[in-house]
Amino acid sequence: MTAPPLRLGVNIDHVATVRNARGGIHPDPVRAANLAVLAGADGITAHLREDRRHIRDADMWRLKQELFVPLNFEMAATSEMVALATRIHPHAACLVPEKREERTTEGGLDIIGAHAHLRPVIQELKGEGIRVSLFVEPEIAVMDAACDLRAPVVELHTGTYCEAVADGDEARIAHELERLKRAAEHGAGIGLEIHAGHGLALDSVRPVAAIPQIVELNIGHSLIGEAIFIGLDEAVRAMRVAMDQGRAQVTA
Ligand code: PXP
Repeated sequence: MTAPPLRLGVNIDHVATVRNARGGIHPDPVRAANLAVLAGADGITAHLREDRRHIRDADMWRLKQELFVPLNFEMAATSEMVALATRIHPHAACLVPEKREERTTEGGLDIIGAHAHLRPVIQELKGEGIRVSLFVEPEIAVMDAACDLRAPVVELHTGTYCEAVADGDEARIAHELERLKRAAEHGAGIGLEIHAGHGLALDSVRPVAAIPQIVELNIGHSLIGEAIFIGLDEAVRAMRVAMDQGRAQVTA
């Protein structure tokens, strides 16, 4: 079996985190986005959080105006964000759960419990021609719920797998990879486009890239962190190489 190409979406939120630590305009997340594209990113992701702790409205507008690759607008399913997304009109919107007190997105959307709330949001964004993805846990029942909600895309939460990699816990790594594989296979089988992301780094990306149904990875924190040492260009290129190495393992 030849797996479809695997796209890399680079999340530039934490360039804005550094900028906001001092105020002012440096470092510029849009400049980082353009650099990432030159280095091989297929798309750019930015999360406009309710509290604007990193990306701000003006960043989203500039990204939309200045980028030549698809922009993925990560957002909570609130009326404020839906209104902004329909005005900015990104290529894609990834719906995520959001809590003010969390340091980062902590898990997938509860789409089984939150059906009623999400359905009109998905419909409205799709009606605007925006590709909607749901950031979800890698579970079979969740894939079925996404399909029922008529979401074209799911992004599988890889955070738990990445934590297992960080802990060096082989049994948990195998368990979490199996969950990702089963969800990807089932989701693709019922017509969903499968993405994955959260926490991925050079030491964890290859086995995820080897899951043939996954067609896009969204990666931010590890790339921006690595950029401090080797530059963003090289960090993105190294990630691309690791993804391609993982993908090359797909044989059957
Ligand atoms: N995908 C989603 C839905 C996310 O919320 C995030 C974090 O903003 C990412 C991918 C990227 O995660 P990380 O920054 O850990 O690579």
